[in-house]
Amino acid sequence: MVIVYRSNTGFTQEYAEMLGKAEKMKVFSVAEAEDGVPPGENVFYMGPLMAGHISGVDQAVKKFTVKGVCGVGMSLASQQLLDALAKANYVPNAPIFYLQGGWAPRKVSWLKRRMVNMVTKSNREALQAKGSRRTPEESKQLDILLHGGSWVSFERLDTIRSWMKRQRV
Ligand SMILES: Cc1cc2nc3c(=O)[nH]c(=O)nc-3n(C[C@H](O)[C@H](O)[C@H](O)COP(=O)(O)O)c2cc1C
Repeated sequence: MVIVYRSNTGFTQEYAEMLGKAEKMKVFSVAEAEDGVPPGENVFYMGPLMAGHISGVDQAVKKFTVKGVCGVGMSLASQQLLDALAKANYVPNAPIFYLQGGWAPRKVSWLKRRMVNMVTKSNREALQAKGSRRTPEESKQLDILLHGGSWVSFERLDTIRSWMKRQRV
């Protein structure tokens, strides 16, 4: 199995490269995979979330044997989010994972920035209204939603790494 990823602002790329290094797997961007990964190859696909859709997953499912998928977004991880991803993304016979990546408002166009700010408005307001009752995780979430930042960490890959180890036995 090789890792194929798409990344607009770099967070998914960071995770893909970390995972590849840790699991000794080859890592290809979608562009590199054009020549580097033959059709039908076993692939773990990673892509950024865009309005609930994992960017590039449809093309990956068409071209490769997708064994697992990971969406990278800015929302807090939850079972609800995983259920929504399973509904919005067609990935036959493979699990979908989720990782919190980051938010880079200065790396996206003003239109996309506006769209995201509109979607996250009620979430930001709810977090702001909590004041000192915010958990440290919620405070970080609010700060990143307001100013941008990253959640990328090696530890977050644990669930995917355990799953990968089980695939090999
Ligand atoms: C237009 C747009 C739509 C987005 N939609 C979602 C979304 O539905 N859910 C989510 O959690 N994050 C969403 N995000 C945030 C990105 O998925 C997040 O910043 C991700 O880490 C980007 O990964 P990348 O740096 O690899 O491109 C959206 C971002 C943009 C610009």
